[in-house]
Amino acid sequence: MPGTTTLERITELRDRIDYHNHRYYVLDAPEISDSQYDDLIRELRRIEAEHPELVTPDSPTQRVGAEPLEGFTQAEHPVPLLSLGNAFDDEEFFAWHARVSGLLEESQFDMVCELKLDGLAVALTYEDGLLTRGATRGNGVVGEDVTSNMRTIRSIPLRVPAAAPSRFEVRGEVIFPKSAFEAFNEQRIADGLPPYAHPRNTAAGSVRQLDPRMTAERPLDIFVYTLGYAEPMEFDTHWQSIEALSRLGFKINPHSRLVRTPDEALDYCRTWVEGWEDLDYGCDGVVVKVNRFDYQRHLGVVGREPRWAIAYKFPATQATTQLRKIKVNVGRTGSINPYAVLEPVNINGVTVRQATLHNADYIATKDLRIGDWVVVERAGEVIPQVVSSVVSKRTGDERPFEMPKACPSCVEPVVRAEGEAAHICVNVACPAQLVRLLEHFVSKGAMDIEGLGIKQTTVLLEKGLIRQVADLYTLNKEDLLELERFGETSVANLLSAIEASKERPFSRVLVAVGIQHVGGEVAELLARHFPNIDALMNASQEDLEAVQSIGPKIAEAVVAYFANESNRAVIEKLREVGVTMESEQAEETVEQVLDGLRFVVTGRLERFSRSEITGRIKDLGGAVSGSVSKKTDYLVAGEDAGSKLADAEKLGVTVITEDGFLDLVASRSGES
Ligand code: IVH
Repeated sequence: MPGTTTLERITELRDRIDYHNHRYYVLDAPEISDSQYDDLIRELRRIEAEHPELVTPDSPTQRVGAEPLEGFTQAEHPVPLLSLGNAFDDEEFFAWHARVSGLLEESQFDMVCELKLDGLAVALTYEDGLLTRGATRGNGVVGEDVTSNMRTIRSIPLRVPAAAPSRFEVRGEVIFPKSAFEAFNEQRIADGLPPYAHPRNTAAGSVRQLDPRMTAERPLDIFVYTLGYAEPMEFDTHWQSIEALSRLGFKINPHSRLVRTPDEALDYCRTWVEGWEDLDYGCDGVVVKVNRFDYQRHLGVVGREPRWAIAYKFPATQATTQLRKIKVNVGRTGSINPYAVLEPVNINGVTVRQATLHNADYIATKDLRIGDWVVVERAGEVIPQVVSSVVSKRTGDERPFEMPKACPSCVEPVVRAEGEAAHICVNVACPAQLVRLLEHFVSKGAMDIEGLGIKQTTVLLEKGLIRQVADLYTLNKEDLLELERFGETSVANLLSAIEASKERPFSRVLVAVGIQHVGGEVAELLARHFPNIDALMNASQEDLEAVQSIGPKIAEAVVAYFANESNRAVIEKLREVGVTMESEQAEETVEQVLDGLRFVVTGRLERFSRSEITGRIKDLGGAVSGSVSKKTDYLVAGEDAGSKLADAEKLGVTVITEDGFLDLVASRSGES
């Protein structure tokens, strides 16, 4: 047994090292020299080597300890990580402010302005003072467990003072500082290695290294911008929680400001529209958040975007060039999509030759004419956009654009449904649509079938071997061998790739069939919630909206997809040939303890947002309606409940509080 003095010395060294670590990495204000710091570390290492039984995971010597992993495990987020709605100009920001004011019935409310950092979002969990988990955002509901890698980031505390809540989660953005990135690349070049292109992508790649020692070599940093949850939760405002996090040792961005009026918020935004390039890290906008937590809860979340926050995006980089032609292509859902063929122009180091024009309305509203000089914008990785035409440069030779009357692929009529922006090729068997859909179906994020490029699929369609995507699975060797472009080996490889694709998980199948708005993230959410294709096909708009993070737009697209006969036929055929139609890991089915009960929710709630409580009721088998009637079983009433409360009292409907609701759920779970 070591004497108490050894333990005391170890504790003292750890405290001092943690203190200086915080001064150096978080506050950027060191008090001792690097060599003095190294001496402390060296002494601690020596004692720990002599007394391995005294090594604890929160010791500053244990940042890079773990062995390389085989792969990352999934990390569920108890509270989902949300996205942000955008405001692209002052007007949109004012509109957001006005909407929030209306909902809060308050003309003035405090807001916090923060930089929108361009890095990788992570969530860090602390339990009883120790960092116990670091996870990437992933799809917002499930990410990857990257704890060992998070431990290597020096500005992330491994332990926090006793004053911290016993269990809490902070969220922040991992960044690769620009200066460090340049130095890192110089070293790589000196070592004969290729330099990396982009600090954000490199930061993201570093966080997802299986070997924490690799991560440790990258000088990553973090700014914490939110308290995900805390038990106990003792803050009333975002600002308070951020100040408390700073006191607990977290690195908070020093540029955050508390403001009161939309003009003050916009002043902040304007400062950074110019100023962000001088920062040592990527920043692509400003996030404005409603400060009071009770207001945040009242405002709630729509889909995945909280109504209580908005991202004010910095204007993208623009250039002027000539619009030479307007062409159209056919999308996989039959939409006829116009696009601009431009005189090539360099924007921020990228040559732009084409830009999307969305639809006929877009062209008409902006009065874009063939031959016009136009302003083109490239924002981040997004497809270039045509912003406006430069009318003063017109010569009179410019020609307006007309939508083709016939599909450029199948020559069937092009129509425009009432109230829809898109012109559509009516022919469900249109080869151009099918080529697009096939291209999407076989792509990496979908069924991942190699060996089917555009040229091959075009041949298959022309020969009539494929009339819908599921026909891929009934292709045979003899037919294929007769075609141009298909030899013995390529046919064998293709058929085995097709066979192997039957094993792709259900979520990938959902991506592959091409439901509007259903990409990888959404498909995973659906696959987690619905155990199999039948459950999903039979889901109503309401059932879908009850899934966390699924909003009305997505729900509508899913319902519309399955309402279509030919889509159902595709699904049936895919099922017949043995493509996966069941989730591997559907959420355990929750006991339907509220089965048969009808609820109405009113007033301002403290514990739940409106969408959370309705989601919860539906998950438990209950129904939610908008107004109180004799059929209503319970009215859940929060503060400031108005006419619905009166209605309930008149009709003798039981009125309960949020806590009453939780008690009800608990007692009914107990019963069964
Ligand atoms: S708050 C309100 N604050 O932006 C919920 N996010 O589009 C959103 N981000 O995934 C999180 N800086 O990676 C918040 N100061 C900031 C941020 C920030 C960057 C990123 C974050 C998130 C994305 C949301």
